Amino acid sequence: MSRIPEETINTIREQTDIVQIISQYLQLRKSGQNYFASCPFHDDKTPSFSVSEKKQIYHCFSCGRGGNVFSFLQEMEGLTFVESVGKTAELADLSVDESVFEAARQSKPSADTLQGKLLNMYDKAQHFYHHILVNTKAGEEAYRYLIDRGMSKESIETFKIGFSPPQRQALKLYLENEKLDDPDVLKQSGLFSDRDDNTFVDRFSNRILFPITNAKGQTVAFSGRAFQQETDNHRTAKYMNSPETVLFNKRKIVFNYDKARASVRREGEVILFEGFMDVISAWEAGVKNGIATMGTSLTEEQIHVLDKVTDHVVIAYDGDNAGLEATKRAADFILKETHFTVDIATFPENLDPDDFIQSRGKEAFTDFLTHGRDTLTSFLIKYHRKDFNLKNESERLKYIEIVLQELARVSSAVERELYINQLSEEFDLSTDALKEQLHTFIVQKQNERRQEKRKEAHHAPEEPTQSIVIQHNQPKETALSRAEKALLHRLFTHDDVWSTIESLGKEVVFSDQDRQLLYILYDEYYHSHDYPSVQSFIDFLPDDRLKSKASEIAWISLGDEVANGEIEDYLSVIVDRQPIENRLNEKKAALKEAERSGDKAKQQSLSFEIINLIKQMQSK
Ligand code: GTP
Ligand code: MN
Repeated sequence: MSRIPEETINTIREQTDIVQIISQYLQLRKSGQNYFASCPFHDDKTPSFSVSEKKQIYHCFSCGRGGNVFSFLQEMEGLTFVESVGKTAELADLSVDESVFEAARQSKPSADTLQGKLLNMYDKAQHFYHHILVNTKAGEEAYRYLIDRGMSKESIETFKIGFSPPQRQALKLYLENEKLDDPDVLKQSGLFSDRDDNTFVDRFSNRILFPITNAKGQTVAFSGRAFQQETDNHRTAKYMNSPETVLFNKRKIVFNYDKARASVRREGEVILFEGFMDVISAWEAGVKNGIATMGTSLTEEQIHVLDKVTDHVVIAYDGDNAGLEATKRAADFILKETHFTVDIATFPENLDPDDFIQSRGKEAFTDFLTHGRDTLTSFLIKYHRKDFNLKNESERLKYIEIVLQELARVSSAVERELYINQLSEEFDLSTDALKEQLHTFIVQKQNERRQEKRKEAHHAPEEPTQSIVIQHNQPKETALSRAEKALLHRLFTHDDVWSTIESLGKEVVFSDQDRQLLYILYDEYYHSHDYPSVQSFIDFLPDDRLKSKASEIAWISLGDEVANGEIEDYLSVIVDRQPIENRLNEKKAALKEAERSGDKAKQQSLSFEIINLIKQMQSK
């Protein structure tokens, strides 16, 4: 199955800490022995996703998904198993045999699907355009433009920037040469302009191309910048983007997310820029946790992507008026949709971050980002100022009122006090008067919130708390299923349990199909491996559902020691009770049927039988 030796796989797994890997993707919080986060695999409002450092597995109590470090990366990044092993070694900074990565690189997933073909085509296109920019005469002028703007050669490499020449046949010819000429795929790629006569001409011509990459770092689109606008006779848009394709959804894509992710985790915050030139310049200045949208306002989907890695955003939009308005909109949106906290960096003199870096230098930039930023409240206080003529008394009062309204949303008393003092000083008002007014607004806000809650309660079912979620999703646990799970758990974690079972000579049949399958597969796995462990058993399992089931069972806590007679107890429940339980289920189904058909006599006799069976079970 895999081209990586099993020994290497085990070494990588053993040298990796799942908590360290997963925390590069999720905000893990420790509680007791385990770590918790919102589950990245379903829309999770409560932190139901948990990671066990001790067991080196994860499990979501809400959606049931679970597994080991490899299955996490497979699911999170859409990788094959082999790729996930390579990725783990990379993320854990393990120095392993280069062949591991080679094997990971060689296994190209789903190359036959449209997605796979398009990814391949974009990869080729990106290399082609980059080559033209960097190595050819045709790209010279564009290259000069970038260097003159202050971009480094290194950034041109890191961001794989390219150039599309003005002759609009170049890419088509190149791809043909690479045997990528399926007209259907060419059409769906978005790399060519639609022509009625079925010829393909490059969509981008005479533009500098910025590859747009997905979370895995694969190119899925381009944004092309015109750079000779001054000499152009006709007006062209400054930027032109690829159209949406199966690979590229503007609402979902976050520019630079793949490269920024690790640093966002490390820094505990993400910097949101307006343009990708800003992201690239900031990167050069050493700020590697910057991202941007594709020139549109932030969407719910993008927030969802960011939510996996942070809960603090610094909005660093352009310093002009449009930027200020966009900042206000983005802040409102983030606060409404998320639990994120927000800081604001407002660049002076209408500068955008890129301009700021070019004119004042990298150090001034990082310094401004760290020390020159505003809290959201101080930003809002400044923001509202522009709407009022503060020399006029009635306008001044209106302004103060608006600021107090904003302060009413601030939960920290210390922060409120700070701004009250500022206002008091600036406008020569007593702090008591300001506090009194603020208090009225706070009460108002609380009432509004209460009313809203009441309204919501009428329209939507109340949000379940975590414990309810758990109960909802887990079917009622019978003694039998408890025993079956416990037995498997002991098998997975204690080497000598097999011999106990074998010595008792009982044939174990599980009532649940998945558990039965796990039992059979574990038997096979256990007897063909020298150092069996549940973590490596998970790799051995053929599908996600079984992996999840196995990790759910590994998750159970039973105490480290197997008690005397414990295994025998499980077996007696499983082996002795099972026939009764099966009969009970049959009778219950028959009773339902009798109720439906209205057969009173049958109902009565079945009821007796059921009561007797339950008694029998209880006596076991
Ligand atoms: P430079 O002008 O090269 O420094 O780029 P910028 O990033 O400063 O651009 P600007 O601040 O004008 O715009 C911010 C973002 O809006 C850009 O990164 C683009 O994503 C988007 N954008 C700007 N102009 C256009 C346009 O003409 N068309 C499209 N589709 N998007 C644009
Ligand atoms: Mn700019």
